[in-house]
Amino acid sequence: MTMSESILRQRHSVRSFLDKPIDNETIQSIIADAHLAPSWCNTQPWKVYIATGNLAKKLCKTHYDNTLHTQSWCEIPPPQDNDWNTTTAVNRQGWFHTIASLDNKNKTALFDMNSNNFNAPVIIYITAPAKATAYSYYDIGAFGYGITLSAYEHNIGSIPAYEFIRYPHEIRAVFDIPEDEKILLGIGLGYPDDHPINSIHRTTGRVPIESMMTIKEN
Ligand SMILES: Cc1cc2nc3c(=O)[nH]c(=O)nc-3n(C[C@H](O)[C@H](O)[C@H](O)COP(=O)(O)O)c2cc1C
Repeated sequence: MTMSESILRQRHSVRSFLDKPIDNETIQSIIADAHLAPSWCNTQPWKVYIATGNLAKKLCKTHYDNTLHTQSWCEIPPPQDNDWNTTTAVNRQGWFHTIASLDNKNKTALFDMNSNNFNAPVIIYITAPAKATAYSYYDIGAFGYGITLSAYEHNIGSIPAYEFIRYPHEIRAVFDIPEDEKILLGIGLGYPDDHPINSIHRTTGRVPIESMMTIKEN
């Protein structure tokens, strides 16, 4: 495999999926891959609760109903508008610009996909210990990225999204999640369809590495 073929360079977020299940063996293999993520003193602070089949469908529907009638909230507070530094604020504007530049049909589709949990046939909810430091979140991020990369290797698309966890009660109603765990993020998995939204990554590049990397020899 050459560097440009690396799955790290090919993975991108997928927000529209075929109505096609993923078998449990494949899901377990993806989780087992991600579970090899490095963590502080090998603490492995992640836990996952996975909805498939009819349960995933039900959660997509409940989620949509909640977006219509319920004030969203999160167990782990998400960043607010003034929680960004100069660099991240600019990069975040770039993402908003990408959304603004979609035509109306695709803009509506993007919001609808979010409201419907992307109709993902598999939803992985990731929790963090209620008592966690920033380093545990670092570790869990590595685990989550591992899920997306392993999924890609299995020809499965993925979307890590805050959207999935905006109504924690819809998740706790179906999974027995201990109180000493907080729901941190969801990752949707599925086989990608050919909706134009799945090509949005072509316009969400990264800043030039010279702007974020310092490398010195002496
Ligand atoms: C923590 C986190 C939360 C995210 N939440 C959402 C979300 O709620 N809705 C969404 O459409 N995308 C969400 N995304 C996907 C990002 O928009 C996406 O990763 C970013 O634009 C880079 O694009 P790429 O993943 O295709 O490389 C989230 C990503 C992360 C890592």
